[in-house]
Amino acid sequence: MKNKIIVQRYIWVLVVLVLAVSGCTKGLNEYNPSGSATADLLWSTPQGFITNVNGAYSYVPYLYGNDENQLFLSEPGTDLWYNYNKTSYDVDLTQYQNFTSASNPVKGVWTTLYKGINQCNAGIGRIGGAGFTSITDRNQREAELRFLRAFYYWHVVESWGNVILDTLETQSPNLTPKRSPVTDFYKLIISDLQFAATWLPVTYGGTWEYGRATQGAALGLLARAYLSRAYYSTGTEANSYYQLAKNTADQVINNAAAYQVSLYSNYADLWNPASRDNDSVALRNKEALFVATFSTNTAIDINGNGNRTNLWFLTNYSGYSGNAIPGLTISIKYGNDQKNRRFMPTWALLNFYNDTMDARYAASFQEVWLCNKAYTWTAADATTFGKNAGIVGTQLKVGDTAMWITKKRVANKAALKYVVFDRDTTYNISNNAINYGDRYVVLTKHMDPITKTGTTTYPGYLNLIVMRLAEMYLIAAEADLQLTNKAEAATYINVLRTRAAKKTPVDYTAAMQVSANDITLDFILDERAREMCGEYQRWFDLKRTGMLGSRIQRYNPDITNFNSNYSIRPVPLAELQAITNAADFGPTPGYN
Ligand SMILES: *[C@@H]1O[C@H](CO)[C@@H](O)[C@H](O)[C@H]1NC(C)=O
Ligand SMILES: *[C@@H]1O[C@H](CO)[C@@H](O)[C@H](O)[C@H]1NC(C)=O
Ligand SMILES: *[C@@H]1O[C@H](CO)[C@@H](O)[C@H](O)[C@H]1NC(C)=O
Ligand SMILES: *[C@@H]1O[C@H](CO)[C@@H](O)[C@H](O)[C@H]1NC(C)=O
Ligand SMILES: *[C@@H]1O[C@H](CO)[C@@H](O)[C@H](O)[C@H]1NC(C)=O
Ligand SMILES: *[C@@H]1O[C@H](CO)[C@@H](O)[C@H](O)[C@H]1NC(C)=O
Ligand SMILES: *[C@@H]1O[C@H](CO)[C@@H](O)[C@H](O)[C@H]1NC(C)=O
Ligand SMILES: *[C@@H]1O[C@H](CO)[C@@H](O)[C@H](O)[C@H]1NC(C)=O
Repeated sequence: MKNKIIVQRYIWVLVVLVLAVSGCTKGLNEYNPSGSATADLLWSTPQGFITNVNGAYSYVPYLYGNDENQLFLSEPGTDLWYNYNKTSYDVDLTQYQNFTSASNPVKGVWTTLYKGINQCNAGIGRIGGAGFTSITDRNQREAELRFLRAFYYWHVVESWGNVILDTLETQSPNLTPKRSPVTDFYKLIISDLQFAATWLPVTYGGTWEYGRATQGAALGLLARAYLSRAYYSTGTEANSYYQLAKNTADQVINNAAAYQVSLYSNYADLWNPASRDNDSVALRNKEALFVATFSTNTAIDINGNGNRTNLWFLTNYSGYSGNAIPGLTISIKYGNDQKNRRFMPTWALLNFYNDTMDARYAASFQEVWLCNKAYTWTAADATTFGKNAGIVGTQLKVGDTAMWITKKRVANKAALKYVVFDRDTTYNISNNAINYGDRYVVLTKHMDPITKTGTTTYPGYLNLIVMRLAEMYLIAAEADLQLTNKAEAATYINVLRTRAAKKTPVDYTAAMQVSANDITLDFILDERAREMCGEYQRWFDLKRTGMLGSRIQRYNPDITNFNSNYSIRPVPLAELQAITNAADFGPTPGYN
């Protein structure tokens, strides 16, 4: 069903696996697939070259869905998520506790990004020998690699700051790497994306090869890069980057039709799983500028773990390893809630939405679970779930409400014939703290009720949206704010809020509008949360704007260890141990 660039990727993946098994483990950034005869051969014909380009893409779905580490580096440790039940899982990233350079998730992402970068460098360096006869074909493939290199380097520089900037293929481990200034990273990122925006196609023609970078993707990432870059300068230099960010976001917005993207008129339609289950031009997600593609072709199993974002945001609804919730049993529709639950929304996140008028709350979160296993209330369960004794003997039929977890306050919990966890069970709203972290409202954006094959399996096969058109409005608005054009910033925000407004039975469009006076950096970050929570961006948003510490302090009392050193991730210990100039290169300040 979902073919795309995948068959060729398969060949690549085999090459990767063979090398990974036999490869040496010195230096984490030296990953060097092209050192093998097979890969050398592949680079030397147009068809082989494209196979290797596909290999360069393979790190995108690995980071965005296949593996959990990038998610841990981008959503928790912010104002939006608690580590559910205060468990100690990846507590370095969720709570900045015991955060050292030995952090495994940090090392995992570092390694993956530099593997991807080296693959791009290899292709960019070798393209002259690939035998392309048309300059357009050649430049398109180079543009794909330069898009990907910029994509990977944007993650590197925003996570680790002034670390290693290689533009040449690494043939053997570089044991004496040098640090490069952040501004040099951005020079490369920007010039790569300018090249990519010039040479990438708008689409890939007759056979839509979904997942490949397009012109719209390059401009979208360029807008994001200009915005991040601006914050590393002050005064007129910063303003010039804010202006570029706004102009580039505008270019995508104003030419959306040409780039074949548009905003859905209903926010909920954006998350219709069917729009992420198909690679046909007609059925694809209309708002996505760039996606990580996943396939039901089991030959393409990159690491055996599958694409798992469907797991992390779930709550304990089926009563795994304990009493079941009356009327509920594990199902494909509600997801595999065993073992992998990770992220509970903060009270602040739920409270950012006025769900009377903002349809994004209901389109992003699940509060109601319907009975999927007929049940008759027992005395024991009535006690466990705090019900009035009179409920004993009452039946729940399939389709009745079985559980309501809500951000509302519920007065008559004991009398209701379904299980209720309300706002006060879950949160202490006077200090944002968790009262009880085992049951919470669930982010549904990544749920996968249509491609999963079993209730307790991990992988789903929906594409994951990495970048979408709505972000362009948020970029333009933030740039406008920094350029002190607040009224204009409000007009961009109002496009998203008009779409988000509930239209029936009452039309709240007017009530949802904001004006220049509402526009502050905090407001934009709140709006980004309402629009994009859970989409692998939050940590970067707070870091970019310098608001990581203050927003954590205000909204996430579960994090007590944050200090400003933590807005840069530590260079992995394994890297420092592998290189011979570690003292010179220097660790990241603030980490053991
Ligand atoms: C942090 O490290 C200390 C010392 O190794 C250990 O006792 C403690 O349990 C760790 N805390 C967490 C949350 O892992
Ligand atoms: C995906 O698109 C193809 C071609 O249009 C179609 O045959 C297939 O049924 C679609 N699959 C789904 C799940 O819609
Ligand atoms: C998604 O997960 C399944 C199961 O591991 C795997 O077969 C499939 O190839 C994965 N897709 C990708 C792109 O990793
Ligand atoms: C899930 O909830 C049940 C109660 O319904 C509880 O007994 C069990 O310990 C919970 N499981 C986990 C892993 O927290
Ligand atoms: C939520 O929106 C409704 C409708 O516009 C409004 O009456 C209400 O005051 C708002 N609630 C809050 C907390 O702002
Ligand atoms: C809720 O927070 C307030 C303010 O910090 C505190 O006084 C109160 O004791 C907390 N309530 C509970 C149940 O922990
Ligand atoms: C964690 O889950 C267990 C089992 O449901 C529960 O007893 C405990 O209160 C929860 N702890 C927190 C901090 O939520
Ligand atoms: C950050 O790290 C440096 C170097 O280790 C240390 O001197 C400084 O106290 C740290 N800053 C904070 C706020 O902890």
